[in-house]
Amino acid sequence: MSQAQQAASRQSDFAEWTSLVQAQVDTALDACMPPSGTIPAKLHEAMRYAVQGGGKRVRPPLVFAAGELVRASATALASAAAAVELMHAYSLVHDDMPCMDDDALRRGKPTVHVRYGEATALLVGDALQSQAFEVLAGGEGSAASRLAMVSLLAQAAGSQGMCGGQAIDLASVGVALTLPQLEQMHRLKTGALLRAAVLLGASCGPRALDSAQRAALESYANAVGLAFQVVDDVLDATADSGTLGKTAGKDAQDNKPTYVSILGLEPSRALAGQLRSEAHNAVAMWGDDAIRLQQLADLIVQRKA
Ligand code: IPE
Ligand code: IPE
Ligand code: MG
Ligand code: MG
Ligand code: MG
Repeated sequence: MSQAQQAASRQSDFAEWTSLVQAQVDTALDACMPPSGTIPAKLHEAMRYAVQGGGKRVRPPLVFAAGELVRASATALASAAAAVELMHAYSLVHDDMPCMDDDALRRGKPTVHVRYGEATALLVGDALQSQAFEVLAGGEGSAASRLAMVSLLAQAAGSQGMCGGQAIDLASVGVALTLPQLEQMHRLKTGALLRAAVLLGASCGPRALDSAQRAALESYANAVGLAFQVVDDVLDATADSGTLGKTAGKDAQDNKPTYVSILGLEPSRALAGQLRSEAHNAVAMWGDDAIRLQQLADLIVQRKA
């Protein structure tokens, strides 16, 4: 096989693998949420609306790819990935609310508050967050490992993770942040949950990482976590709403500091490329076992939506 044929075959194999992972996680998500008719029916219908049907589902493959390093079982990984996806869906529901970004379009559909009202959207977010912890608490593994996973996700989502980043985001409208301040905001509001996806995958055992391996995986997770939001900023400025499934040009419209507004478009793209290389290098020590992680770094940086 020529090098080009080998690369093409690895790519189609990657697409198949991600679809398989996403299907397993969709099944886990369906199983963990009460059916739509369960009382209170409007809340349960709205939770499903927020979680199902749309979304790139990038975080679940990160959980599974990191899980390959520790030979984790598919069921353990599916439940960890479902927990991350529930937490992520909650963050989007609240991010879109009028008191935050005030967005009407998400995943190509009306946002949850537009469709179900603001109070229901607030409760959908709250309930999805609780559901995420419930899924991790009832997952596979020892009580100690489940507790560590609950704690990891709580830190990633809390005031020194996603919520903290969102608070900085809201306080920064119209503010010309310095690059270190912008980087901190992005690492918290988006990077923290992507990092948690990677580290949760590696917590699904049965093997454990030694301290050098753990440090390497953290470097990978930090790089892809930041890269994801740099690319989100680039796409907000360059793609259209139809492709994104959310309102394009919203950051400039709302006067938000972003990598594009502070660094410029081309330097932002270059930074994303650098972070991709950093991610590749960080996991090179695993050889073929890290191919999925490297392919996901490529996907996160090269995505068009
Ligand atoms: C959007 O995340 C919000 C950010 C953290 C930048 P995604 O781009 O992963 O959203 P979905 O899940 O595909 O809708
Ligand atoms: C959102 O950042 C990060 C979250 C915690 C949801 P954005 O506000 O840029 O995300 P989008 O562009 O609305 O998806
Ligand atoms: Mg926002
Ligand atoms: Mg937003
Ligand atoms: Mg954005």
